[in-house]
Amino acid sequence: MMINCFIGIITFLTTYGSATILSDPYTTVGKLNGDLSLGGLVPIHNSYDAATEKCKNLDITNIMRVQSMIYAIHSINQNPAILPNITLGYEIRDTCVSRTVALRQSINYFYDDRSERSSNCNTADTPSSSDSYQNCTSDVCGNGTDSSTEIKTDSQGNNNVNRDKIISVIGPLYSSEAFIVGTLLSNLHVPVVSPLATSSLLSDKTEFTTFFRTVPSNSFQGRAVTAVIHYFGWNYTAVLWEDDDYGNSLVEEFQRSAKEKNVCISKVILFPKRPTASQLQSIIKELRALKVTVVFIASNAKMAHEYFIQATIANFTGITYIAPISWSQSSSIISEIDSDIIGGTIGLTLGSSKQYQFESYIKSLTACNNSGNPWFQTYFRSNVAKGDIPVNACIPVSAWNDSSKITNSQTITSAFIFNAIYAVAHALHDMLKCNRDHCQSLPEEKFDTKKLVAYLFNVSFVDASRENFSFNQNGDPVHIRYNIVNLQPNGKNVVSKTIGAWLTTGQAIINDSVIVWNKARLHSGVPISACSSDCPPGTYRDSFSNDKCCWKCISCYISSISNRTNAEQCHVCPYGYLPNSNHTSCVKAVPVTIDIGGLLSITLMVILAICGSIVISFWIITILHRHHQVIFSSNSILIHMSYIVLLYMLASSYVFLLPRNRQFCMVTIVTYTTSATLLTAIGLSMTSAVVALFSEVMASCRYSEHFKTKGQPLLVILLLCIQIVIVLLWLILSPIATYMRIDFNYKIYEMCHFQSLVGPIVSLSYIGILNVIYLGLAIKGRHCPDNFADAKYLCVACCINMCIFTFMVLTYFITFGPWQAGISSFSLVACAMSFLLCVMAPKINIMLSFPQLTITVK
Ligand SMILES: *[C@@H]1O[C@H](CO)[C@@H](O)[C@H](O)[C@H]1NC(C)=O
Ligand SMILES: *[C@@H]1O[C@H](CO)[C@@H](O)[C@H](O)[C@H]1NC(C)=O
Ligand SMILES: *[C@@H]1O[C@H](CO)[C@@H](O)[C@H](O)[C@H]1NC(C)=O
Ligand SMILES: *[C@@H]1O[C@H](CO)[C@@H](O)[C@H](O)[C@H]1NC(C)=O
Ligand SMILES: *[C@@H]1O[C@H](CO)[C@@H](O)[C@H](O)[C@H]1NC(C)=O
Ligand SMILES: *[C@@H]1O[C@H](CO)[C@@H](O)[C@H](O)[C@H]1NC(C)=O
Ligand SMILES: *[C@@H]1O[C@H](CO)[C@@H](O)[C@H](O)[C@H]1NC(C)=O
Ligand SMILES: *[C@@H]1O[C@H](CO)[C@@H](O)[C@H](O)[C@H]1NC(C)=O
Ligand SMILES: *[C@@H]1O[C@H](CO)[C@@H](O)[C@H](O)[C@H]1NC(C)=O
Ligand SMILES: *[C@@H]1O[C@H](CO)[C@@H](O)[C@H](O)[C@H]1NC(C)=O
Ligand SMILES: *[C@@H]1O[C@H](CO)[C@@H](O)[C@H](O)[C@H]1NC(C)=O
Repeated sequence: MMINCFIGIITFLTTYGSATILSDPYTTVGKLNGDLSLGGLVPIHNSYDAATEKCKNLDITNIMRVQSMIYAIHSINQNPAILPNITLGYEIRDTCVSRTVALRQSINYFYDDRSERSSNCNTADTPSSSDSYQNCTSDVCGNGTDSSTEIKTDSQGNNNVNRDKIISVIGPLYSSEAFIVGTLLSNLHVPVVSPLATSSLLSDKTEFTTFFRTVPSNSFQGRAVTAVIHYFGWNYTAVLWEDDDYGNSLVEEFQRSAKEKNVCISKVILFPKRPTASQLQSIIKELRALKVTVVFIASNAKMAHEYFIQATIANFTGITYIAPISWSQSSSIISEIDSDIIGGTIGLTLGSSKQYQFESYIKSLTACNNSGNPWFQTYFRSNVAKGDIPVNACIPVSAWNDSSKITNSQTITSAFIFNAIYAVAHALHDMLKCNRDHCQSLPEEKFDTKKLVAYLFNVSFVDASRENFSFNQNGDPVHIRYNIVNLQPNGKNVVSKTIGAWLTTGQAIINDSVIVWNKARLHSGVPISACSSDCPPGTYRDSFSNDKCCWKCISCYISSISNRTNAEQCHVCPYGYLPNSNHTSCVKAVPVTIDIGGLLSITLMVILAICGSIVISFWIITILHRHHQVIFSSNSILIHMSYIVLLYMLASSYVFLLPRNRQFCMVTIVTYTTSATLLTAIGLSMTSAVVALFSEVMASCRYSEHFKTKGQPLLVILLLCIQIVIVLLWLILSPIATYMRIDFNYKIYEMCHFQSLVGPIVSLSYIGILNVIYLGLAIKGRHCPDNFADAKYLCVACCINMCIFTFMVLTYFITFGPWQAGISSFSLVACAMSFLLCVMAPKINIMLSFPQLTITVK
């Protein structure tokens, strides 16, 4: 034992003073005995050599974190309000930033795996270990009279350290270590409260059932970054990330919350593992090509530093970077990278208030009154005690030449460490049902750490920053605050200035007026980061590439509108509505009517005037020659009737051009069906007269005068009456409505709507059947040696009539608007004129050519 102790001292003395001290991580333990103890896992050395199982490079920042633990436990022990008659001890171990060591150390809290190591000076596992530590150190540090309270407690109290006294482990500080320690201790049902492990994976309570932390999970950083980007209205951003747990969780949460807030991420670029300069240069080239102005670097400080070195070489300026906690305060970046490159960066820092009392406490520490932290003494001897400073001098930290660095590094993180320790203390306080002056007696058997986990989930207290502290169901802190900093150019370099904060409420609170942006940015004022400008109403956004942040604005198609900015698509106006001129809203459609003074109307009127005058002149001629043989041999009433029908038809044809509505539709139907029926009926009765005449001539050369004078007009009226009945039934049984029809030029026309096709079909079929009979009779009588070949002309007229009729019916149903009106009217005119020219014109011709064939009236 003593021999080993001396060997330890000799080893120590021989390595003392050299730059690197190799030390066995398992032998040195910072320890205080108490009724119950907290474990502490801190990476005091920052590298571990697995081959020799030795650690090197003492990290003063983490040594001071050990000091935070000691300080917090002391203040709890001195505070009568928490755990009144219970003394908390501690047992702090080094993890050397190694998962192996961290695992081994956490096993050491509960199982003895160190029997072969227990011989060294500082081990805590033998009853006399603390004494031996004191003895060893007293050789080095002064006269040993100023040993700290810890040692005294230790030597006065029960030196037989009971492993069952470890109720919880504070730490580890790094996520990589926390995974392994968290997994192990979850299996042992021992609560682990990490002050600084930020990986979002640790929130998974199915795996890390007893893991708590007082620092926000990385995933909140993603949300905070989104809030910052949203605050400045940037939505064309690039993300550079490193494929490790840190980068992953940051990017994952950033993408998720960006989607929620409608912030567009243009490009997500992965840093290669151990990137070469040329790989980083090609990333920079890509960013240049993208023309992004805001870049979020989700990586550790080392990677960000390498990137910035390449960005400096490439003179890649004008970018506003967004920094996560990992590098926003990184001294290597802040002090080495040119302000042209990183000036104007907006970063996040852990938001916790400065612990002034603790700061003055560490400034007062000396190597002589801080034996509870053995690494503090080692650091003092190896790094501070040089030149005129003797190794046994009791010089307070405030007099060390790097004192400001030591104290500054604590200002942010110590609050998280205090919270971790206070959370356990308060949970224990609740669990032991402590009142003002005493707690329940401790159980005889092993302490129930599982129960402590349940109390930790419910713990709630006001922390040193006077904020309420509690854990959520994932063991994460409920109240989160990130400070938002701006890296402002200061000569060649930058300084970090706090410009605002982000709280769990989700809003970034930023004081814009103090921000200094990157000098070389493209826009003055707040940098603008958008690929495309907004699409105004009346257009829609069309992404033209996979890059969904960039788009083109395309005008809405002719019948559709968009009434908001950045519409994804245009909407077709509802029935009866048309877009306004700028396609921003639908307006009630006003149907286009045919212009009375328009070309169509004028043309029709001219034609009607010509046709009408022809009909009238024919009629006058007929009246003048009323005693002519032609009239006599035909039926004079029928001939006069046909003139009237022809005029009626010409008049009806104009009806099609009138503005449409329900009444108009009915009038059109009536005029059209009656005029078509009348014309056919006249033709039919003329043919039947011809045929009858012919038959009678063949039979007896006599024919009924009675039929000739009365029968034919009566037949016409009878046939017309049938059609009128059909039409009346049609209009009564299936009333006519109207509908809107849009043409290719997006003019809207009101159209007649036949609710049922039965009416039109019956009515038109009736006309069709009459025509067929008419044609049949005309064909039958075409060779009749009738006077003036009436039947032949009637046959031609009927054929023309049928063609026009068919054409008109078909086109009526497939055309609309002026086309429909025009075709319908001209068809009617054509029907009338074909009859006039085929049937009446030959008669007139004969009358005029052979005026002598007059029959003297008896
Ligand atoms: C430590 O030193 C004290 C006296 O200074 C002595 O009584 C004690 O036995 C020593 N302990 C060990 C383990 O050597
Ligand atoms: C040693 O102890 C004496 C009192 O016992 C004290 O006055 C003196 O300052 C101490 N020396 C050191 C270096 O601490
Ligand atoms: C992008 O930013 C512009 C300007 O700040 C904004 O008008 C637009 O709505 C944003 N687009 C999205 C998708 O957030
Ligand atoms: C870097 O680029 C800026 C403009 O972007 C230019 O003013 C400056 O001269 C360049 N510096 C070097 C070293 O090329
Ligand atoms: C340590 O000792 C120095 C003087 O030696 C004293 O000022 C300081 O308060 C002490 N600190 C602690 C924590 O005991
Ligand atoms: C502090 O002193 C040591 C040794 O004297 C020296 O190596 C180191 O650079 C100094 N540090 C500062 C920040 O001056
Ligand atoms: C605290 O006080 C209570 C009541 O006096 C006692 O039962 C218990 O054992 C004490 N606890 C300790 C750790 O001394
Ligand atoms: C924690 O709080 C919940 C609800 O407030 C309660 O049901 C539960 O019993 C509490 N657990 C402990 C261990 O006090
Ligand atoms: C802490 O919680 C109490 C009640 O639970 C509330 O009154 C107080 O305002 C809270 N303090 C802070 C800083 O949120
Ligand atoms: C845009 O149109 C939709 C439906 O077409 C309507 O619900 C909404 O109120 C309109 N918005 C505006 C601002 O006119
Ligand atoms: C669209 O046109 C209407 C008039 O037609 C006008 O009042 C309105 O301001 C225009 N809207 C836009 C966005 O141009």
